[in-house]
Amino acid sequence: MHAIAHYQQIIQEYFTNLSLQQEPINLYKPIQYILSIGGKRMRPVLTLMATEVFNTDCKKALPAAVAVEMFHNFSLVHDDIMDDAPLRRGNKTVHEKWDVNTAILSGDAMLILAYQYFEGYEPAIFRDLAKLFSKTALEVCEGQQWDVDFESRHDVTLPEYIKMIGNKTAVLVGASMKMGGIVAQTTPENCDLIYDFGFNLGLAFQLQDDYLDAFGDPETFGKQVGGDIIENKKTYLYLKALQHCNAYQKERLLQWFAVQPEDTAEKVADVKDLFKATGADTATKAAIADYTQRAFATLEKLDIDPDKKLMLEQFGQVLMQRKV
Ligand code: IPE
Ligand code: IPE
Ligand code: MG
Ligand code: MG
Ligand code: MG
Repeated sequence: MHAIAHYQQIIQEYFTNLSLQQEPINLYKPIQYILSIGGKRMRPVLTLMATEVFNTDCKKALPAAVAVEMFHNFSLVHDDIMDDAPLRRGNKTVHEKWDVNTAILSGDAMLILAYQYFEGYEPAIFRDLAKLFSKTALEVCEGQQWDVDFESRHDVTLPEYIKMIGNKTAVLVGASMKMGGIVAQTTPENCDLIYDFGFNLGLAFQLQDDYLDAFGDPETFGKQVGGDIIENKKTYLYLKALQHCNAYQKERLLQWFAVQPEDTAEKVADVKDLFKATGADTATKAAIADYTQRAFATLEKLDIDPDKKLMLEQFGQVLMQRKV
């Protein structure tokens, strides 16, 4: 088992040396662009780690890991159109740098490229990877649709929110890890356990994403701080604030989420104040810790070496503390 940095380096090296088809330039340039401006590369690292957890050389999982990162970047390019986001990884989003049509098609191409990475696997592994990937991709679409539907709904419940982030984010984290299990040809039980570990970590990860969207440092966050508030996203912060507010706070919160002011700065500032005054910020932090603990509990059931468990736990701890 290697250190996390080792897996990151393998992925980084792959994307640095990646040479895509050149023409048409407006199809491939945006792909090169989004893949080159960074990102944490969390999902492919998890695929490589999961492979070694089950005693197989992580190099065997590199194509699957790259497929997951390619899919993730496809989903981000389309997500930024849907969320009207100006910034990604500290740079302009693809639809801002080019235009919406370019972002749609380059995103589509990345989805197809992702599938192509499976082609080199032997039939049994190919079948399992492709099956899991298709199931996951459809679930992500469902989650993304709920996320958008919730923007204009005023009766979203916490269970609905958890279901939504389970689909838009957690299933891909779970699948990233299960792919490692598939490549390593471990037992179905191990595959399910590592999926559950990733799924719960994914829920914690999205909760932290929501938290940082409001309270991240604009200098380092890399995305537009307050973007979720501007877009009337029904995040955990929002739903908890609604649960714990007084009548006056409730009126303000509902008012802000019913209108779209020209100048969004005041909306963002006041809603952040409400998130703090109602304790929604600390409730979100507690939920992040809770889902991370659930992930660790799943880990207990996995029959793997203690040093491997420790590595996966360390990864979870690092994610909980992340600032980007
Ligand atoms: C952003 O994912 C989208 C979410 C599911 C929250 P990441 O935070 O992993 O984005 P990058 O790849 O590191 O930029
Ligand atoms: C994104 O959720 C989930 C997917 C891209 C599938 P968000 O919309 O919260 O992600 P960010 O904050 O833009 O990265
Ligand atoms: Mg978004
Ligand atoms: Mg979104
Ligand atoms: Mg977000």
